[in-house]
Amino acid sequence: MFKGKSVIVTGAGSGVGRSAGLLIARAGGSVLLADVNEQGGQETLAMIVKEGGKAKFMRTDIAVEDDARRMVESAVAAYGRIDGAFNNAAIAQTSVLLHELTAEAWRRNLDINLTGTFFCMKYQIAAMLKTGGGSIVITSSAAGVNGFPLAPEYCSSKHGVIGLMRNAAVDYGGKGIRVNAILPGAIRTPMLMKAMTENPGMEEYLKSIHPLGRYSEPDEVAQSALWLLSDAASFVTGAAIAVDGGYTTH
Ligand SMILES: NC(=O)c1ccc[n+]([C@@H]2O[C@H](COP(=O)([O-])OP(=O)(O)OC[C@H]3O[C@@H](n4cnc5c(N)ncnc54)[C@H](O)[C@@H]3O)[C@@H](O)[C@H]2O)c1
Repeated sequence: MFKGKSVIVTGAGSGVGRSAGLLIARAGGSVLLADVNEQGGQETLAMIVKEGGKAKFMRTDIAVEDDARRMVESAVAAYGRIDGAFNNAAIAQTSVLLHELTAEAWRRNLDINLTGTFFCMKYQIAAMLKTGGGSIVITSSAAGVNGFPLAPEYCSSKHGVIGLMRNAAVDYGGKGIRVNAILPGAIRTPMLMKAMTENPGMEEYLKSIHPLGRYSEPDEVAQSALWLLSDAASFVTGAAIAVDGGYTTH
């Protein structure tokens, strides 16, 4: 599926990003793993190398424009071009009501989840324009189209990346660049586990709002990103695709 192709994955040191990195490498792709968490990123790299896959890790804080630029330059230097980018890195909400949210917490979330995604896309698109196109996938959230309790900054940043995605799909479709977003429901990753520890009762609430009655595993979400990144989704762009166990149907 990805033989001869190179893909950048952000947030690759944990959860969905780690799954995607492993799955892309297993499908023959070369992966540039990016994460602000050096230890997590190195662990994912070791897992891929152990399986005989091709990858490279680069410590990257997506909220720093120069880091995003270097991440893309590093992928192009290593693999000659980038065919795909999975912009998946994000932080969770601080779990307070809007009237209690500090300006600092608001800015931090928007800086990473929205502006950081913009920085990544800025340099990825510039690189893809030079080589005739590519596919970009952003991880938004069910909270990118629905309200979610105690998550004003997260809901806002995840709604925001859908706007960024739709704009880029319109502006770059004619240049061979497809841009889509996936909208996961609850996923069994460290991000969710932390939020559940901070909010007693959240576990039962989350199960109750997913018609499938469970969370997803990281691979179930990563697989949808792989499809969008691949040529199998060659006529799909500008789409915000729910991967949420039915959560946003009601
Ligand atoms: N876990 C869920 O229930 C859930 C639900 C809906 C959407 N999502 C989204 O799925 C994506 C993956 O989340 P996950 O559940 O795998 O979380 P996770 O916390 O396991 O992984 C996120 C990774 O992003 C990295 N990261 C955070 N800030 C960064 C930065 N500034 N620069 C680079 N890397 C950074 C973290 O170090 C971490 O390795 C996120 O976009 C998240 O918002 C998660």
